[in-house]
Amino acid sequence: MIPEFNLKNKTAIVTGGCRGIGKAIAIGLAKHGCNIVVSDLLEKPAVNTAKEIKKLGVKAIAVQTDVSNKDSVNNLINQTVKKFKKIDILVNNAGIFYPTPLESMKKQDWDKIMKVNLDGYLLCAQAAFPYLKKQRSSAIVNIASIAGLSAFAGSAAYNCSKAAIIMLTKSIAQDWAKYGIRCNTICPGVIVTPMTRAMLKDKNFQASLKIGVPLQRPGKPQELAGLAVYLASDASSYMTGSIIPIDGGWTCHL
Ligand SMILES: NC(=O)c1ccc[n+]([C@@H]2O[C@H](COP(=O)([O-])OP(=O)(O)OC[C@H]3O[C@@H](n4cnc5c(N)ncnc54)[C@H](O)[C@@H]3O)[C@@H](O)[C@H]2O)c1
Repeated sequence: MIPEFNLKNKTAIVTGGCRGIGKAIAIGLAKHGCNIVVSDLLEKPAVNTAKEIKKLGVKAIAVQTDVSNKDSVNNLINQTVKKFKKIDILVNNAGIFYPTPLESMKKQDWDKIMKVNLDGYLLCAQAAFPYLKKQRSSAIVNIASIAGLSAFAGSAAYNCSKAAIIMLTKSIAQDWAKYGIRCNTICPGVIVTPMTRAMLKDKNFQASLKIGVPLQRPGKPQELAGLAVYLASDASSYMTGSIIPIDGGWTCHL
């Protein structure tokens, strides 16, 4: 029997789910029947996204969360279990980016980026663990970046946070396979979202995409949803610890 893409009656938490890549993934999961918890620092946009998702015929709630704060993450898990009684899927997506050239980077900048981009993923995974384990067949989908595979200039903290997510993914895959928890990572290339809007206006950056990206354009958040649905569902039942770029071919050069 071919394993299914069907996510009917499953429950997924999507961090940073109110906009950009997280929102596209949340909608993709919902279109396959999954109930969604939209977790984000931004409360009102999260509520609006949850409303939009409910129109797809699934249940959805918004939970205001700071993924870098343990109490806030525990509240996210408690609210999820209160509403849906279980957690089948965790999409660790909430992240921040700003330039951190090494020669001028302050320790606070390093700490801030690491706290959200790396500690946030760990805190959410650990807090969700007892519930993911209970399901005996559950999935964590981490969103890293091609910056975790190949260093972006002037972005040391971001690069290191994303490289660490790749190793966290493999560590979770190693340690939690015995509990039926699979963990895989998507490494997006340049995707059009609020995070990259300013960068993408830059003519030099646009030109660099034409040269560096075989498909010669940035991606759309929706172009990541299919892989996220696959990794979250039983269709990928023999995959764990995999690191998959979606980057228009950027990493062909590596
Ligand atoms: N856009 C890209 O080109 C690109 C490329 C590679 C990787 N990524 C990664 O994809 C993920 C999503 O990025 P995006 O482009 O959609 O960015 P975005 O800025 O549009 O969305 C990120 C979301 O995360 C939320 N967030 C930030 N800090 C948070 C915190 N402490 N707690 C909870 N939520 C928080 C924000 O409010 C926002 O809604 C990030 O991890 C990012 O690093 C993006």
